[in-house]
Amino acid sequence: MATLDPNSIPGMIEPVERRLLYRLGSELAFEDGECGVEFGAFFGRSTAFLSLGLRARSGISPPLFVYDSFGCDAGGSFRPHVLSFAEAGGVRHLVQESHGRVDFFPVFSFYLKSMMDCGAVVATRSELADSRPPINPIRLMHIDSPKLYVDFKPILFRFFPRLKLGAAIVFQDFFYHWSATLIAAVGALLRFGYLELRETAATSLVCILVRELDEKAAAEVDLAMSSDANVLVFMDYAIEACSRMPVDRPETFLARLQLAKLQWFMERGNGARAAEVITRFFQGGGSVNQTVFNDFIELMSNSFSMEKLYRLDHKGVESGV
Ligand SMILES: C[S@@+](CC[C@H](N)C(=O)[O-])C[C@H]1O[C@@H](n2cnc3c(N)ncnc32)[C@H](O)[C@@H]1O
Repeated sequence: MATLDPNSIPGMIEPVERRLLYRLGSELAFEDGECGVEFGAFFGRSTAFLSLGLRARSGISPPLFVYDSFGCDAGGSFRPHVLSFAEAGGVRHLVQESHGRVDFFPVFSFYLKSMMDCGAVVATRSELADSRPPINPIRLMHIDSPKLYVDFKPILFRFFPRLKLGAAIVFQDFFYHWSATLIAAVGALLRFGYLELRETAATSLVCILVRELDEKAAAEVDLAMSSDANVLVFMDYAIEACSRMPVDRPETFLARLQLAKLQWFMERGNGARAAEVITRFFQGGGSVNQTVFNDFIELMSNSFSMEKLYRLDHKGVESGV
């Protein structure tokens, strides 16, 4: 098998997250037939660290099932990122553009070919709304595509019931200013006793499944998430729970949770409540570093909403099959 150098793959996860994925892949106790699942592979950086970790184990090497659209709209928000990461890696020629769509699966295949050829990585090109789980029980899940609860729902309904008790779930971009409803969904899963917090690394939050969640339970969580009042309660629950645990660079990542809440209020046209979030943050002794300030400016320059641009790149569940 050709050697895979995961650090050479252009990507969006920090060194501390790369080490985390490798460690989870190599150290989690997998049973025969179990697998890992990843949503949001992009060019394959996170995939490479996960799959190398899984292969570093003694004995069985569980397969890693990967889901991504591996494409975006030519006029959407993601294309500039695809092109700049491809330029940086010297693989711009592998990005294909036609009929208003951008296809980066050839980049993923270029880097992950050896892992796919030997069956260590099984990649599916699909929208989250259309993604279906493998038959294998899932021991490790890396979620790095949805930032909105509505896009996380297919994972909750179809993949969470396949998780084994004790499975590790990594919510990448949990500590992110665009992730308000994803933060709330994690808050709901914590509050209903399905998840426990384990550790954080950069924007990633690692949780452990401590109570099995079937389709009926998923529907209950979904019902609870359908009210804005509850979403707020769940967001606060998650923020409170995180502020009681050791968090990687809390001055940035805990502050981001407050920014996410502010974004959520602003998107709903509730500037007064958004102002309260900022006021309380500063009254509570919070301060803003350059990173958090830049995040705020990013929110503001997008008028506190990304959904329209995101929908150009990815269809939602509601938009049909
Ligand atoms: C932040 S990038 C992932 C970064 C990657 N994990 C790494 O290590 O560099 C998010 C990925 O999720 C995919 N994605 C986002 N929303 C999606 C959706 N609704 N359906 C399918 N793929 C989606 C994008 O195509 C993109 O490749």
